[in-house]
Amino acid sequence: TTDITELLLSRIRDVADYPEPGVVFKDITPLLADPAAFTALTGALAEVAEHTGATKVVGLEARGFILGAPVALSAGLGFIPVRKAGKLPGATLSQAYDLEYGSAEIEVHAEDLTAGDRVLVVDDVLATGGTAEASLELIRRAGAQVAGLAVLMELGFLGGRARLEPALAGAPLRALLTV
Ligand code: PRP
Ligand code: MG
Repeated sequence: TTDITELLLSRIRDVADYPEPGVVFKDITPLLADPAAFTALTGALAEVAEHTGATKVVGLEARGFILGAPVALSAGLGFIPVRKAGKLPGATLSQAYDLEYGSAEIEVHAEDLTAGDRVLVVDDVLATGGTAEASLELIRRAGAQVAGLAVLMELGFLGGRARLEPALAGAPLRALLTV
């Protein structure tokens, strides 16, 4: 492991039995509170944005906003919020996706993504891949290209990477940490 891997890992707190018994929650708030670790994280994700030739960064509400906005600024790119349904005032595209119990819906302002765009999606955690998959659908439905997906952490045992293969269609999935 490299120095940055160890730095990031050291600032993620495991919380047992949250939000329900048997689940170990990966809490990134200690990382956000440490400016050296937060800077290293956003710098590494901004490098991904540059390598993928992204023209815009999409952040996924809510924790993807915390990471995506500084990544966009650091890479010199615009930031586009993908929000949970009902929060955006303009004309939107929406995409529903299944959760373990029930379903959820995310939205983007349709005018924020256009045919010339190459979009990097940024989020904190890739778990089952449902949220990221819905965001990739939104980007394609808006007529834009997917430059890639970049996350701080991939929960490898949940199989999100395999699930996302069709939606990524060859675009890279970069996880700084796999746990
Ligand atoms: C969490 C996490 C990812 C998503 C990953 O978001 O931040 O966005 O779940 O899960 P998946 O790969 O199974 O879709 P969540 O909506 O729980 O909370 P947040 O609003 O705090 O980001
Ligand atoms: Mg989230």
